[in-house]
This record gives sequence, structure tokens and C-alpha cells, in this order.
Amino acid sequence: MIPPEPVKTNKERGLIFTWSITFLVLFPLLILLGFLMRIGQAEMKKLFLSDFYSLMTLHGLGMTALMFSFAFAIIWYLISSRYARLNIRIGYVVYFTVLIALAGLTIGILVGKFGAGWFLLYPLPFKSGTWLSWSTGVSIISLIIVGIAWLIGMLHLLYYLSKEFGGFGNLLGWQYLRRKEVKKELPPMVLVATISLVPAILAFIIGAVMLLMYLLQFLQPSLKFDPLLLQNITLFFGHTFVSVTLFCGVAWIYEILPEFTGREWKTDKVLIYFWNATFVVILIAWFQNLYMDFADPVSRQFSGQIINFLSAIPASIITIYGVIVQFYHSKIKWSFIPLMFLYGIAGWAIAGFAATVESTISVYKVLHNTMFVPGHLHTNMLMGVTLFIFGFLFYLFFENGKQHPGKLAKAGFWLFVAAGYGFVLMFFLEGISGIPRRYARYTGMGIKSMHDIAVHTAQIAVFFIIVLSLGLLMMYYSLFSNLLKKNLLKVFKTKAGIA
Ligand code: HEM
Repeated sequence: MIPPEPVKTNKERGLIFTWSITFLVLFPLLILLGFLMRIGQAEMKKLFLSDFYSLMTLHGLGMTALMFSFAFAIIWYLISSRYARLNIRIGYVVYFTVLIALAGLTIGILVGKFGAGWFLLYPLPFKSGTWLSWSTGVSIISLIIVGIAWLIGMLHLLYYLSKEFGGFGNLLGWQYLRRKEVKKELPPMVLVATISLVPAILAFIIGAVMLLMYLLQFLQPSLKFDPLLLQNITLFFGHTFVSVTLFCGVAWIYEILPEFTGREWKTDKVLIYFWNATFVVILIAWFQNLYMDFADPVSRQFSGQIINFLSAIPASIITIYGVIVQFYHSKIKWSFIPLMFLYGIAGWAIAGFAATVESTISVYKVLHNTMFVPGHLHTNMLMGVTLFIFGFLFYLFFENGKQHPGKLAKAGFWLFVAAGYGFVLMFFLEGISGIPRRYARYTGMGIKSMHDIAVHTAQIAVFFIIVLSLGLLMMYYSLFSNLLKKNLLKVFKTKAGIA
């Protein structure tokens, strides 16, 4: 591994700190939208239906876009500061374009009340019952812009990496499968990042084509497309997008965890086989969403079931095994950062288990479209990816984990984890009780006992959101106070003429 060179990585550090601050500002704002939705479902405050669906759309699209953008920015930083110097200008172009697109989306949703949900399932965006029709156009254009920005960033990164490692096949680790000696070692992070980003590129290209079709219909309303085709594209895009965000997080764990355990995480044939299998799995895992589509061929539904069981295996088995090997009898310096990674992996495993159970056909018939689905989604993103991200943030803000964040941050972390699981548990309990997802309020359900369960669990969820936000606040305090301290120290040293 090439160690980072502090002087030359100043520009990269500037970009990643810019991204980090942006993430830290937007993340709680998007949580606030989720909080408001839960308040509405708990009947603590009356929300207009149109407001609920606008909030859900902005929360869903905003969270997924923000988390992917920041996960990609972290991969960009680690690769550019360690393995292949990337063009910093392109990095900033991606940053500002994503910001402009998010601003456009916010205007479309908050001002125009666009509320077709984060999946924009066709033809819903064009059935503007509660939103102004221009908001559909603004939201579609914003999504096309953000997609193009990501595509540029990912293609640039993969191009430079493949130049550095002698070809695209080498990024997938195929040189390890030949009998020849491997000249340049492939860091596991580069392998996992490639395996994640290539399916993302395919998904984004197909997603961009879909959005262009949407745009055409927006400009020429007499146009009509096949809803089944567009639904399948949406499912492919949405499923791949969320999986890739998670795998980007896994990628930086392969890179950073060994710095704490002092044990190398080597690339070998087994790792290559498992991650190449994951490559295929990422591309086909969305088949598990097709059980309920009787318009799809039956073979697709059966293959969806088999793929569902297989998809849980390669990435999780090899990573969990690798993590155990990293920790087992190692001389790890236990600190906050490996702890966060460990809990993030646990969140991923729990969400994966819940998703596998849920997508078993006989169970799916009962749980589909219940709150169980947001349950596994939020376990994955909040108790998995969010912990990976905060682990990285503490690594970055505390000198590559060499400084200790202190007791307040640790207490905040435990509060966040405990309350986070309380929050997602309410989704799961609601799901098991048959409470439907995406309901603004439960007054119209017609079954009093179900209404009462839904409202009470939502009220408990509101309590957990407040506690987890308190935990977050404590972690924020620790991050920002350290950042300010470091900056003040730098100003003081510059004034005093100390290098
Ligand atoms: C404490 C933090 C969070 C809170 C309070 C929260 C709250 C909520 C609520 C109440 C819903 C509506 C569920 C329904 O009635 O169907 C929802 C949906 C959603 N949330 Fe969150 N959420 C949080 C974190 C996240 C994170 C980190 C992500 C990351 C991707 C996320 C992504 C989504 C998505 C995509 C949906 C739409 C799901 C659907 O279409 O059914 N949320 N959230």
C-alpha cells in the first residue's frame, strides 16, 4: 500500500472536508423530514396528505442521493490520496453539480409539492393530483443532472484506476487467476470499489434512459410508454443504487480496519472469486422484487426466489469472515472507529437476514408493502451505511484515528445505536402486524385495532428518533469541536511562525 503523502494530499483533503461538512449539514435536515412523517403517522400533528408525500419523496430521494454521493466521495478521496491521483477539478465539478441538482429537487418538491415517491413509479409522476405539473419536469431534470455528474465521476475514477493497475481486468482481480506472477498487488478496496461502481454505471445509464423517456412524456404528454418495462427499469436502478452505496462503505472498511488491527487484508483468489460473484449478484438481485408482478413471466418469479437466497452469500460471507480474521487474536487498539465499523457490519447482516426472510415467496405474500420493507431498508442504511460513514468521519477528523474522540462521542454512539434499533424495531413490529407502508395516516384503514397499533408504534418511534438525534448531536459536537480546535491551532502556529 502506498502511504498517503500529507503535502500532496492537501487538495484531496480540502475536497473531502467540503463533502463531509455538506453531509453533516444535510443529513439531520433529511432526518427532520422523516421525523415529521412519523409525527404525522403518530397523529401528534395533522399533516396534509400532499405534505406527507412531498416529505417522503424529498426524504427518500435526498437520503439515497446524499448517502451515495458521500460514499462515492470517500472512495474518491481514499483512492486519490493513496493509489491513483485523480483530477481534483472533476471532483469539484461533481460536487457542485450534485449540489445544484439537489437544490433543483428541493424546489420541485417543497415549492411544487412533487410527491411521486423516491421510486417515481411510472406513470405516477404524470398523474399530478396534488402537485403542480412543472414540478415533475424540474424533478426529472434535476435527477438527470445528478446522474450525469455521478457518471462523469465514476468513469473518471475507473479510467485512472485501470491505467494505474494495467487494465480493467486487473481491477477485477483476474490477474490472480492466471498462473503468472502478479506484478502489482491489487488492494482489496480497489477491487471492492470497482465491483461496486461498474454495476452503478450500468444502472445509471439505464436510469438516465428511463428519465429521458419521462422527460419526453413531460414535454409531449400524448406520448405513452410500457408501464411494466419502466417499472422493471426502476426496480433495477433503485435496487442496484442502494446496494452499491452499501458496498462502497464495505470497500473503505477493507482499507481502514487493518490500520487498527495491524493485520494485512490481502487480496487472494478466494477474495477475487467471492467479489466477482458479488458483481453478478448486484446486477441480478433486483429480480427478488418481481414476485408480485403477475404480468412478468413465471420463470422470472422463480429465478427471483433462487437469486434472492444466493444473493445473501458472496459479499457478506467473505466480508464477515475477513472481519473475524482481522479481529481474532489481533493486537487491536480498540477505539471508537473499529467499533463503529463492527456495528455497521452487524447492521448490514441483520438487514440482510430480514430482507432474505421477507423475500421468501410465502412470507413475501404477507409482508409485501407493509412497514417491514422500510424496516429492512432503514436497518441497512441507518444501522449499516450511516455507521460506516461516521466511522470514516471520525477517522478523518481525528488524524486517521490517531487521536481519541473522547467520552461524549462514545456516549453519543451508544445512544444512537440503542435508539436506532428501537426506531427500526417499530417498523418491523408494524410490518408483522400488517400495517401498510407509505400511509400518511391510518385513520382510513377501517380496522380500529390496526389503527391503534400503527399510531402507538409510530409514537414510540418518535421517542426513539429524538433519542437517536441526541446521540448524533453528541457525536457532532465531538467532530466539530475537534475540527475547530485544529483550525485554531493552525492559525495560532501560523501567526507564531511555527511550521
Ligand atoms: C432517523 C432517521 C430516519 C427517519 C426518522 C426516517 C423516517 C422515515 C419514514 C417515517 C418513512 C416513511 C415510511 C412509510 O411510511 O412507508 C421513511 C421512508 C424512507 N426513508 Fe427514511 N428515515 C430515516 C433515515 C433514513 C436513511 C438514513 C435513509 C437512507 C437511504 C432513508 C431512506 C428512506 C427511503 C428511501 C424511504 C422511502 C421508502 C418507501 O418508498 O417506502 N431514511 N423514512
